Amino acid sequence: MGVQWYFSLIIWLIIGVFVIKSVPAVVEEGVTGSTIDACRIHGCNCSDAAKTWNIINCTFNSTQVVEFTPGSIPSRTLEISISGGSEVTLQPYSLNSPIGFQFLRVDGTRRFIIRKNALLDLSSASLAFQVLNCDRLVVETHAFKNMQTPISVDVSRCSYVSIQSSAFSRLQDGKFRNIPYLDLAEDAFLFENQGIIGRHGPVSSLSFHNVILPKIPTDTFHSSLAEISIKNSEIREIHTDAFKASQISAILFINTSIHKIQSRAFSDRTLLINFKFTKCKIHLMEMGSVMASMTNLTVEHSKLTEIQTGAINSTVAKAVITDNEIGIFHSHGFVLNNWNRINMDNNIIKRAGSFFLDVPYNPEIQHFEFTFIGNEIYRVESNALSFMPDLHYTVLNLKFDNNFFNQTCHCDIGKWVLELLGNQMQDASFVLNTSFCTINALLARCFELQEGLINMHNFTQLVCGAEDSIKCEPYSGETKILDTTTIIDTEDTMNSNSNLILGLVLGAVVVIAISGTIVILLIRGGLWLKRKGYCMRFRNLHYRNEHPTSDEEGTIVPIESRDKLDVPEELTPEILQRLREQLEDPATHDDAREMIERLYELFITGESYANNNKQDEEAHLYEELGNLQLPTATEHEKRLSETEPFGFLRMMEEKYNTTALAILGNKPALAEEYSEPTDAAVHLYSELQNKTDDVIDLDDGKDSLKSFPSSTQRSNNSRNIVFRPLPEKPRSIFECEAGPSKI
Ligand SMILES: *[C@@H]1O[C@H](CO)[C@@H](O)[C@H](O)[C@H]1NC(C)=O
Ligand SMILES: *[C@@H]1O[C@H](CO)[C@@H](O)[C@H](O)[C@H]1NC(C)=O
Ligand SMILES: *[C@@H]1O[C@H](CO)[C@@H](O)[C@H](O)[C@H]1NC(C)=O
Ligand SMILES: *[C@@H]1O[C@H](CO)[C@@H](O)[C@H](O)[C@H]1NC(C)=O
Ligand SMILES: *[C@@H]1O[C@H](CO)[C@@H](O)[C@H](O)[C@H]1NC(C)=O
Ligand SMILES: *[C@@H]1O[C@H](CO)[C@@H](O)[C@H](O)[C@H]1NC(C)=O
Ligand SMILES: *[C@@H]1O[C@H](CO)[C@@H](O)[C@H](O)[C@H]1NC(C)=O
Ligand SMILES: *[C@@H]1O[C@H](CO)[C@@H](O)[C@H](O)[C@H]1NC(C)=O
Ligand SMILES: *[C@@H]1O[C@H](CO)[C@@H](O)[C@H](O)[C@H]1NC(C)=O
Repeated sequence: MGVQWYFSLIIWLIIGVFVIKSVPAVVEEGVTGSTIDACRIHGCNCSDAAKTWNIINCTFNSTQVVEFTPGSIPSRTLEISISGGSEVTLQPYSLNSPIGFQFLRVDGTRRFIIRKNALLDLSSASLAFQVLNCDRLVVETHAFKNMQTPISVDVSRCSYVSIQSSAFSRLQDGKFRNIPYLDLAEDAFLFENQGIIGRHGPVSSLSFHNVILPKIPTDTFHSSLAEISIKNSEIREIHTDAFKASQISAILFINTSIHKIQSRAFSDRTLLINFKFTKCKIHLMEMGSVMASMTNLTVEHSKLTEIQTGAINSTVAKAVITDNEIGIFHSHGFVLNNWNRINMDNNIIKRAGSFFLDVPYNPEIQHFEFTFIGNEIYRVESNALSFMPDLHYTVLNLKFDNNFFNQTCHCDIGKWVLELLGNQMQDASFVLNTSFCTINALLARCFELQEGLINMHNFTQLVCGAEDSIKCEPYSGETKILDTTTIIDTEDTMNSNSNLILGLVLGAVVVIAISGTIVILLIRGGLWLKRKGYCMRFRNLHYRNEHPTSDEEGTIVPIESRDKLDVPEELTPEILQRLREQLEDPATHDDAREMIERLYELFITGESYANNNKQDEEAHLYEELGNLQLPTATEHEKRLSETEPFGFLRMMEEKYNTTALAILGNKPALAEEYSEPTDAAVHLYSELQNKTDDVIDLDDGKDSLKSFPSSTQRSNNSRNIVFRPLPEKPRSIFECEAGPSKI
């Protein structure tokens, strides 16, 4: 019965939805049948311009729904200007071959829809189509059909705009501004009539300013274009073959963020004359995302989070890749073929794979210029600079200068550099003479180098010479200042995958829910046990039983003040922690104190702990007292009896830790409080003091090297003097200046 009832309900629902969906279609058909002269529509005013031409000027009120149907607009109409209205629709064939139609302007209409074939066979010299201030604009497939007239489209301040396939049959230019949702369909900018492609290439141009494009689907830019400029905008995804026109003279992305560029988004069938990213954020460039041939490629002042292998893999005559922050630059990330000039300057690269830049030599091409200047590369794989050696023999103007690698300087840095170069060269001095590595705080002080960077070549000269000691004197050679303001956060953004965040949030919610349930169950269970009287000890440790409630009568044995504290059989960190909390809470302070004293008697004085002599203990206790920061203990002379418990507690905790250490072999959680994180720094201070008096004793350094495991410890037999990175002081060098004393 019940099941049948549900079934019939569902069927009725489906039928209902179907009927509701089909009603508008029926209504439409009905409407298209009747024809109302546009000049008679309430709110419209037709006026003659030069007798024969009509100008239709309509002002609608906010509830008016208006449709223009075939025949309603006189064929000699020159302009239509509409303002206001709730919904205005141009039905199919409503403007059928008007002779001189030039201007269609819609302002402040909430919804404006141009149906398929609404404007047909136009042949005027030009058509301006403007839509301003709307909620929704829909230009359906082939809305402008079979046009001889080039159209200029200007859409601005509309909340939602949908441009369907091949909506404009011939476009002069399109401007889309301030649109929070611009929905482009496949083939949105496919033009039936390209117009004459002049000697200077295609003429149509499109600009998008301050728009959000959820996607640029396949074939969106299918016809040749003079220019596409996308500025201050956001694009979630650029799909495969989105840019497929045979020629696009310029594509400019300015201050635009792009989440993902799919493979072959810029198809290899396309020729791009100028292709430029300026101040953009690009999260992911997939493998082969740019395959189009380019005359000029510019990527500047942009953040690129991940560049996959072969992300750009094409012919590029001139590439300028400057002032960018790049997260992961996978190996063969940019493959630039047949190039004349490449400038790769002032980039910050967090991770560079082997051959991240692949610039194959082509004997048929003149390679004029290659520069690799002022780049900062943080993590770098061996072979990363393998593109360099070939260039030595093939490029007219080669510059490699002023680059920084986040690599601790060591005496065998030459070998390291050769590995970067793919071990293809004997001489790495063009890198060593011009590149920078990092030195540790100690040497930085020695050479008075605040930035902690030094020229590689100079470093080997100063530190790895034949002398027995390093002379500390202000370094006068080349140095470099890192652009620390932009130390990249790409790793974070990379991981800020929204799915991951969502997952984490959901996970957290689930965990909170589960733990909340458990806590409630525990509390309820505890209360139940308490009511049943099973859990005296548990309760006594948790609650201060000040007001025994009447419902507990009978089950609770009245507790004497001396017995009030039930002593646990063994000491656990939980109990100690709990005691600490109770001790700090004024309400439970007294009880806790008593308990601690009893525990102390039981576990500490009763056992072998007593072998620490009494004086030591007392000294320790006083020391502890000094450290305590009781909220009430403002006066120095706090009564011993008051603070004693803390001392006892600490001792017990310590004791627990030492026994636990013996058992577990590692540090239990309680020990954390006693570790001394600043110790290392203190240690370094003294080390600095000893060493930087005048001259660093190198023997010392050598010794310490041997005991210090480090990845940079490549250096060995070849040189008798070996340098190692000393433990780094955790703080910056500047604080070091403010430290103990100057050299
Ligand atoms: C229609 O236009 C004419 C001429 O511009 C003007 O005189 C008339 O007042 C207008 N009527 C309306 C309703 O706007
Ligand atoms: C249309 O008419 C309104 C007033 O009725 C006038 O303010 C406006 O300028 C007219 N627009 C055009 C394009 O003639
Ligand atoms: C809007 O215009 C229509 C006529 O097309 C009229 O029936 C309606 O009352 C008007 N509404 C207002 C709020 O003026
Ligand atoms: C960059 O674009 C954003 C919107 O995406 C805008 O808020 C910002 O003002 C733009 N910056 C510049 C310098 O134009
Ligand atoms: C390429 O860009 C440079 C400026 O970077 C410009 O001078 C040159 O004209 C561009 N080439 C073409 C073919 O547009
Ligand atoms: C670059 O493209 C060519 C063919 O178009 C392909 O053979 C090669 O593997 C690609 N290189 C990378 C690194 O993806
Ligand atoms: C630079 O290298 C040091 C030591 O290898 C490392 O701790 C630091 O995080 C690196 N810096 C960056 C920005 O990757
Ligand atoms: C590097 O510097 C050394 C010493 O200044 C010099 O002999 C050598 O020629 C330089 N190498 C290059 C490639 O400039
Ligand atoms: C550092 O190297 C440069 C050349 O690269 C040289 O002119 C300068 O004297 C060197 N400085 C020191 C302190 O060796």
